[in-house]
Amino acid sequence: MAISLKGAIASRTEAETIALGGMLAPLLEPDDVIALSGDLGAGKTCLTKGVASGLGVVEHVTSPTFNIMLEHHGRLTLYHFDLYRLERADQLEDIDFFAALEAGGACIIEWGERFPERMPEDYLAVEISIAEDDTRHFTLVAYGPRGDRLANAWLATAEAGRVAP
Ligand SMILES: Nc1ncnc2c1ncn2[C@@H]1O[C@H](COP(=O)(O)OP(=O)(O)OP(=O)(O)O)[C@@H](O)[C@H]1O
Ligand SMILES: [Mg+2]
Repeated sequence: MAISLKGAIASRTEAETIALGGMLAPLLEPDDVIALSGDLGAGKTCLTKGVASGLGVVEHVTSPTFNIMLEHHGRLTLYHFDLYRLERADQLEDIDFFAALEAGGACIIEWGERFPERMPEDYLAVEISIAEDDTRHFTLVAYGPRGDRLANAWLATAEAGRVAP
C-alpha cells in the first residue's frame, strides 16, 4: 500500500495533547506501531503520556531519552522508544527494538524517522509541528492498511471530541 496522508489534528495546550493521546489508546491493538516525529519539545512524549494513561498505565511516564526504551504495563504493554541518542541502526538490535515490534504490545517510537528503513512495514506516523502560538499540528501519515485504519478511527474520535471554538 502506498504511503497516505490522512489528515491533521490541532492541539492548543499540553492538556489537549494528553487528551488526544487518550483518544488513541482504546484504538490500539497488539503489535500496533506509532512513530512520532517533530522538533525537540514538539510534544511526542506528552502525547505518549496520554496514550499510556488511556491504556491504564498507573506509573509516571517519563521521557526515555537516556534509557532509549521504557516499558509500561496497561491494557497492552507499551514499549516507548526514543531513538534520538542512538548513533547507528545496528544498535536497534541491542535495545531489542525488533523484538518489541512483535511482542504483542503497542510501540510508540520517538525519532523513528532517523532510521526509516528499519521501521516496520505497516505503521502510523505522526508528524508534529509547532505553530507560532504554541499550537501543535499532528499530521497523520499511514504506512500500510493498519496505519490507515488507525488514522481513520483516531481522526473520527478527535473530530467528535472537538469542542466548538
Ligand atoms: N499544544 C501543546 N501540546 C503539547 N505540548 C505543549 C503544547 N504547548 C506547549 N507544550 C509544551 O511543549 C513541551 C513538549 O515536550 P515533550 O517532552 O512532549 O516534547 P518531545 O517532542 O517529546 O521532545 P523530545 O524530542 O525532546 O523528546 C512541554 O514542555 C509542553 O508543556
Ligand atoms: Mg520526548
